Amino acid sequence: MNCLVTIDGPTGSGKSTVGRLLAKKLQYHYLDTGAMYRAIALAIRRAGMEVQNEEEIGIICSGLDIRFIHEGNSIRTYLGNEDVTVAIREPLIDLMASNVSAIDSVRKVMIRLQRKIASQGPLVAEGRDMGTVVFPEAQHKFYLDASLEVRVNRRFLERQNKGELISREKVKEDLIRRDYQDMNRYLSPLRPARDAKIIDTTKLTPNGVVERIMKDMKIGNNRGM
Ligand code: DC
Repeated sequence: MNCLVTIDGPTGSGKSTVGRLLAKKLQYHYLDTGAMYRAIALAIRRAGMEVQNEEEIGIICSGLDIRFIHEGNSIRTYLGNEDVTVAIREPLIDLMASNVSAIDSVRKVMIRLQRKIASQGPLVAEGRDMGTVVFPEAQHKFYLDASLEVRVNRRFLERQNKGELISREKVKEDLIRRDYQDMNRYLSPLRPARDAKIIDTTKLTPNGVVERIMKDMKIGNNRGM
């Protein structure tokens, strides 16, 4: 099996920032599996379908062409020929992605695609079930967490920086709701794998987290970048 690092954790725990930085340092590919569920949610929304319509969603999902393309320093998400990188970050998609991710047929298609991507080279894979379900055999597993207040702050600042007019309270409410859903669903609920190293990122910078991860992997910090 190729070198594989998994990073799981709740919203705002720092997975994406850390995953990207780590992949760059290690010169591995980076896989944002949340973006995949977001792309499906977007397709379903555009098709005007209800999330309850599980059978049809499964059919639509297996026909979707979700790809990641490196453009300069950024990784773009494509749905067919369309760059949906920005569209999938719309607030409305947050909860929809969480809703569709609880559907069995959707997860089956995604897991197959995620494993195919991992077979193509060294990978940092980030999401909710990377270490528990998709890659249980990964050599390096991490679970990031942080205090609720810090996670809410990170999300709030992110959305403010995008120019959204939103209250901190609403961000908190949405975050709690989504995490509850992701942690309490029947299929692949968010939880640390038994052999995952748990890192509390509350007081750490992204680079500080990357350092910890690399230390745990026994890799010197002068690699890459
Ligand atoms: O990481 P994110 O916020 O972009 O993820 C959006 C949703 O996708 C998240 O609320 C739950 C779902 N998801 C999942 O079920 N499994 C994954 N591996 C990644 C994301």
